[in-house]
Amino acid sequence: MRIALVGSGGREHALAWRIAQSPHCSQLFALPGNGGIAQIAECVPLAPRAIPEIVQFARDQRVELVVVGPESPLIAGLADALAEAGIPCFGPRRAAAMLEGSKAFAKQLMAQAGVPTAPFAVFDQPEEARAYLRQHFAAQPMVVKADGEALGKGVFVCETLADALDAVEFLMEQRGLGEAGARVVIEQRLYGRELSLLCFTDSTHAEPMPPVRDYKRAFDGNRGPNTGGMGCYTPPPDATPDILQKAYEQIVLPTLRTMAERGTPYQGVLYAGLMISDGQPYTLEFNCRFGDPETQTLMPLLESDLVEVMLASIEGRLREARPQFASRCAVCVVLASGGYPGSYRTGFPIEGLETVAQMPDVVLFHAGTAFESGRYLTAGGRVLNVVGLGETIEQARQRAYEAVAQIHFEGMHYRTDIALNA
Ligand code: AMP
Ligand code: GLY
Repeated sequence: MRIALVGSGGREHALAWRIAQSPHCSQLFALPGNGGIAQIAECVPLAPRAIPEIVQFARDQRVELVVVGPESPLIAGLADALAEAGIPCFGPRRAAAMLEGSKAFAKQLMAQAGVPTAPFAVFDQPEEARAYLRQHFAAQPMVVKADGEALGKGVFVCETLADALDAVEFLMEQRGLGEAGARVVIEQRLYGRELSLLCFTDSTHAEPMPPVRDYKRAFDGNRGPNTGGMGCYTPPPDATPDILQKAYEQIVLPTLRTMAERGTPYQGVLYAGLMISDGQPYTLEFNCRFGDPETQTLMPLLESDLVEVMLASIEGRLREARPQFASRCAVCVVLASGGYPGSYRTGFPIEGLETVAQMPDVVLFHAGTAFESGRYLTAGGRVLNVVGLGETIEQARQRAYEAVAQIHFEGMHYRTDIALNA
């Protein structure tokens, strides 16, 4: 089977690695891929948002399955365009991807489906948003969120009323994130511990993957700015079977049922970003795709054939496919360019990769790298994902950091506390 994978990050390298191992896969294209993916797939310089070009490429190359990594092409309708061309796609149609594409839509759907989530209100007028904040903030801290796609920059967890008013000013008046901030969701702030729960789904049945804890802040101790993710581990010990069952029954299934009832069935990966508060999971957000870096910890544990699971999701027979994961632990540490998530320089040679490739229970996934003249160079903010595996989280953590110690590039920075005291 000829398969095309859309995307270029660490998540896509982890997916490419598993797809390439599948007996179903005869040829793998990566659009556009990265330095690591180039070793196992044919990289084609097409941007994920270039929808007509991707469809044309898939037609020309007789691609039989397209797997989409990032949310942006799904929200823009890549799955719909491929469906029109008769090409199977793993990932939701545009109307279903709205679960990530619009926070107001997601919240309204959660309300309709009876899914536990923070109380909220939606505003198109800044003066109404401000009036609401002035009335309610004193009693209850609030979070202000841009409705539209904002690459993780659209959420303001506010300490004070002044912060919340500033967020409204930035998003709605200054349009600091463009049209994404034309509408805002204001919701009650929740307290607790966060959990990423990713499920494969064929729109009626869902198969949960092991739960993951993600580290979004740039520096140790959860300090510094938010990033695309600096590391993660699975499984967090506080993700008890009871909590996971509640999340599955009260969040995942009603969401899928309601999406199907409104005529927008959801197929692909449904990623629920959860807050666990007093033993109860609440939905913070939905993503319409695999998580990054969550996927880098999940793929090494997946024992089933990934392509088979994806085909079963597309063909509505996921209930039979039953993806299996090893009951081991995985810890992923992200190695970033100096300055990330702010501005950074690229083009530095990366050392130590051969050593790490020999280490047992270590898997390395590339994110922002390029392969040029026989060596790897840094080419992005998040450069590498080092994944350690073990029977315990401590063991997995130790393996990951042993491998990290072998790698060097100028300006390299990473968190030293991923999965610490887990
Ligand atoms: P979102 O993109 O909606 O998941 O928000 C990004 C991050 O903001 C989440 O991972 C949380 O850390 C935080 N966040 C979002 N909503 C809330 C909330 N209602 N209460 C507390 N923190 C939140
Ligand atoms: N790890 C967070 C995300 O993929 O959105």
